[in-house]
Amino acid sequence: MKVLITGGTGYIGSHVVVELLEQGHEVEIIDNLINSKITVLDQIEKITGKKPTFHQVDLLDQPALEEVLTNTHFDLVMHFAGLKSVAESVEQPLKYYSNNITGTINLLSVMQKTEVYNFIFSSSATVYGDQGTGECVETMPTGTGITNPYGKTKYMIEEILKDLAVANPNFNIVALRYFNPIGNHSSGLIGEDPNGIPNNLMPYIMKVAKGELKELSIFGNDYDTDDGTCLRDFIHVVDLAKGHLAAINGLKPGFTTYNLGTGMPTSVLQMVNAFEKISGKSLPHKFAERRPGDLAILYANPSKAKTELNWQTELTVEDAIKDTLTFLAQPQNNP
Ligand code: WQD
Repeated sequence: MKVLITGGTGYIGSHVVVELLEQGHEVEIIDNLINSKITVLDQIEKITGKKPTFHQVDLLDQPALEEVLTNTHFDLVMHFAGLKSVAESVEQPLKYYSNNITGTINLLSVMQKTEVYNFIFSSSATVYGDQGTGECVETMPTGTGITNPYGKTKYMIEEILKDLAVANPNFNIVALRYFNPIGNHSSGLIGEDPNGIPNNLMPYIMKVAKGELKELSIFGNDYDTDDGTCLRDFIHVVDLAKGHLAAINGLKPGFTTYNLGTGMPTSVLQMVNAFEKISGKSLPHKFAERRPGDLAILYANPSKAKTELNWQTELTVEDAIKDTLTFLAQPQNNP
């Protein structure tokens, strides 16, 4: 298939590009490089032997976007482009609603105009809000108790997609709800390396391991869990990427969602202990106050993707940590 990947130089997108190329698909990338580097294209070429066509386009620039989809007819669009900092979204909601929602509406409008109807959307477990038990199933209601504009943009986009699928039955739409992606390609050539102070756990651990940040604060050890720290579903990003390939087979008229997770929660402290064990080094950390908006427990019930897409995770948290250490060891990632 000829596939257009928005956000294809980003963390998740670049891993999906690698899997698509290795499966023989033709790939073009749209990215505005606001949160990624163009050198990722060279790394993708080192891994796959192929360099995808790249368009430095912002989804808010609809004419430029239309030119890309007019010049080439794509069989499928996978949409990863979006701002994703929970903390920043609280400080700058208009930036998030404009970039994530208007950008997606522009993309869908151009797809409809150029008659491209296969769409896979990078959604998030955040849309579940607080379901109480912590285990998330696709049939659960969404949109209640979402604590930040970032998560609300994901929910609102899912609602837009539902309405579009009803209005235009040509559309075949799948929304993939990610839990907590970690790790990187085993080559260590691509991975997550955000600028500035990371929000997410693993990128923060990585900066502490590199000595760029002094110590990790574990936000809360008084939750109602075995070790008092939060439980999350940490999924290896390569498993996540393979889930996108599997989702191609799940494309059908209408709007469909799938959880992409391991189904096996891991605590924050377990993650820290595993990182220390595998790296062979202590990771400076301390227990701190809870972070507002955090849920104690959040993990996937991944059975729908297993049944309908014949997909399940194969890699472990330990695999992800080993691959992260390979990424950290790369000269360009450890200046
Ligand atoms: C995980 C756990 C923190 C940092 C968010 C988004 C979600 C998805 C993943 C995009 C929590 C603890 C973290 C730190 C810590 N993003 N933590 N110290 O909040 O589960 O999910 O990122 O799709 O949509 O909502 O991920 O990595 O921020 O936190 O103790 O320095 O690690 O309290 O329990 P989260 P996270």
